[in-house]
Amino acid sequence: MIKQAIIPLAGLGTRLLPLTSVFAKELLPINGKPGIEYILDECIEAGIKEVIFIISKKKMMIKNYFYNDKFYKKIIAKKKDNRIINEYKKILKYKKMIKFVYQNKPLGTGDAVLKTKKYIKDRFFLMLLPDDLIIKNNCSKSMIKIHNRYKSSVMASMNVDRKTVSRWGIYKLNKKINKNNYLIKGVIEKPSKKKAPSNKAVIGRYILPKNIFSKLIKLKPGNNGEIHITDAIQSLINENYKFVAHNFSGKYLDCGTMNGYIKSSLEISKL
Ligand code: UTP
Repeated sequence: MIKQAIIPLAGLGTRLLPLTSVFAKELLPINGKPGIEYILDECIEAGIKEVIFIISKKKMMIKNYFYNDKFYKKIIAKKKDNRIINEYKKILKYKKMIKFVYQNKPLGTGDAVLKTKKYIKDRFFLMLLPDDLIIKNNCSKSMIKIHNRYKSSVMASMNVDRKTVSRWGIYKLNKKINKNNYLIKGVIEKPSKKKAPSNKAVIGRYILPKNIFSKLIKLKPGNNGEIHITDAIQSLINENYKFVAHNFSGKYLDCGTMNGYIKSSLEISKL
């Protein structure tokens, strides 16, 4: 069973500047609700019991959002407002399941994951990248089902336009298991159109084995000086670890860019 999830939140969010010069992008409202709450709701509905947030000192605002009890208690004592009471109850529910770890230098997603090493209890855990919202279908829940069926690692996958492959991590396929699931041979980070082995891109949901930490410890920084989670995944695949790419059925919203962020509010308001 997958019971723990980790969420890297220690990045700089430069694509959403100037907002991110003072604000954590994960708290920006998407149709009136902070982006991170959509991610937490996805985890809860998928049966996750503990979520580890990887934040940095610069993003303490995220922890403060969940640890503002005194403020709520004072307001609620003064104003018996049901909306505020319900919002506070929701925050308390999230708070109970969140642990915080710190990555003060943004050395890459792989380095962020490594910070959770001593807290991961089971053989597999879920990782969600909060910029990637998936609506209309709970992607984590579907991936956990696939994991239970194939006893493998699982990563979310989406067909992208061949012209845009250089923006994504792209899968090298081994074989098709069935309509929406592929056994993979590897992942290439942002290949040119010519070098791309497929048009299937990695999207920010991963079920990873605990053994990934032994690979992450040994990794040297890759392109742009960062430690990439995909390099550790490739090392595991080279040792015959089974990784399945799952073409999810929900709708993907990229909240990490300004255009995508604006569009995501519009899409969610139509639900
Ligand atoms: P990205 O590289 O896509 O986003 O990281 P970013 O760094 O936040 O934003 P840009 O690219 O400057 O606009 C994907 C996820 O991994 C986290 C980010 O917070 C984001 O949720 N991350 C990235 C870390 O936690 N640590 C890192 O060192 C890098």
